[in-house]
Amino acid sequence: MAIASFAESGADLQLTGITKRFPGFTAIEELDLTIPAGSFFALLGPSGCGKTTTLRLVAGLEEPTAGQILIGGKDVTSTKPFQRPVNTVFQSYALFPHMTILENVAFGLRRRKLGDPVGKAHEALKLVELDHLASRRPAQLSGGQQQRVALARAIVNRPALLLLDEPLGALDLKLRRQMQLELKTIQTEVGLTFLHVTHDQEEAMTMADTVAVMNKGKIEQMGAPEELYELPRTAFVANFLGQSNLFTGEVVASGPDHIAVDVAGVPIVVPRTRAQRHAGEIAIGVRPEKVSLLTSAPLPESGRNVLGPGRVTDVSFSGVSTQYLVDVPGVGELVVFAQNMVFGPVVQVGASVWISWNADHGFGLDDDPGVVPRFVPDASTESIAIQRRIALEEELEQA
Ligand SMILES: Nc1ncnc2c1ncn2[C@@H]1O[C@H](COP(=O)(O)OP(=O)(O)OP(=O)(O)O)[C@@H](O)[C@H]1O
Ligand SMILES: [Mg+2]
Repeated sequence: MAIASFAESGADLQLTGITKRFPGFTAIEELDLTIPAGSFFALLGPSGCGKTTTLRLVAGLEEPTAGQILIGGKDVTSTKPFQRPVNTVFQSYALFPHMTILENVAFGLRRRKLGDPVGKAHEALKLVELDHLASRRPAQLSGGQQQRVALARAIVNRPALLLLDEPLGALDLKLRRQMQLELKTIQTEVGLTFLHVTHDQEEAMTMADTVAVMNKGKIEQMGAPEELYELPRTAFVANFLGQSNLFTGEVVASGPDHIAVDVAGVPIVVPRTRAQRHAGEIAIGVRPEKVSLLTSAPLPESGRNVLGPGRVTDVSFSGVSTQYLVDVPGVGELVVFAQNMVFGPVVQVGASVWISWNADHGFGLDDDPGVVPRFVPDASTESIAIQRRIALEEELEQA
């Protein structure tokens, strides 16, 4: 599906000191962000954190209160939207129902009086593997196919920068996963810069080279997906990107390689390099899948942390894994994910268990431990998706 003429390079996007104030509300504060040319960048965050506002600023649909926007090194802060080398794909496809698929894709090129709109539209449709349906109308396509037409329509303009605002929000899970892989493939083939906005952490991690986690108009942490997941620096990132068991306690030992934190009288060891703070009261954590459940007290072993005994308060089976909630006196409720290697759960509700993990798998946060919640369940992405869909539909209706 590679088409040489589409292999045009993307452009760097640079935001410096961007602030956006609406009357009585600051949506973005002092945002600095550099997205290298040709990368797949995901902006991830909960509803209302400022993702769409950031995209609208880049597209020129909003004016920043302060700061500069550079695309390909050129300052476009005062440039009109249609003069920016940018295209946006919204969640709702908004295809013209009375036009064929081909005409939908060629429309923008015709309007801008660019040469060979039909040839270029066919090329873009080949890229999304829909050229064989070029003469159909949108109503004769499935939702996922319509989504791909919307993508072809954006790519045909060869924007140096493609902005995607929750473009897969309306698709069912399976189609969504399939489109995620296809989008990633297309991005690699065309070499354009993609800025993808989502509240779905799995989507951000699957697709992007770099993920920026946004909270209340600020970027809390940015990095490769594995890096963010393995070493979250704040409780917000630790809980927004998957789940975490978090503890707070006083540092009671500090060596060259490890520190130990007192958690309900038990010294919990964390590698020094994986902790942001090394003294005083700090917050530390471990991911639920890194923790093992044991039905008898383990022998003390260097390099492993053990808490318990605790009581299993909930067991929920989810196919590939089972989630256990374990209440450890003095510590609170912990989450353990166990892969289903055997038939049925390993232990039942009420069982007495110990939990244990490799000390190298823990992490220490930078947050003030006083404000770190002990355990925060994952944000409900479903309700966020519904809100998003309604907001975008309204936006498109008004446009
Ligand atoms: N025109 C506006 N006037 C006042 N406040 C606004 C305006 N547009 C957005 N906001 C506020 O700015 C904040 C960020 O909005 P934004 O649309 O960027 O959020 P988002 O991260 O895209 O959220 P979602 O995931 O729900 O789409 C919200 O609190 C929103 O209410
Ligand atoms: Mg939004």
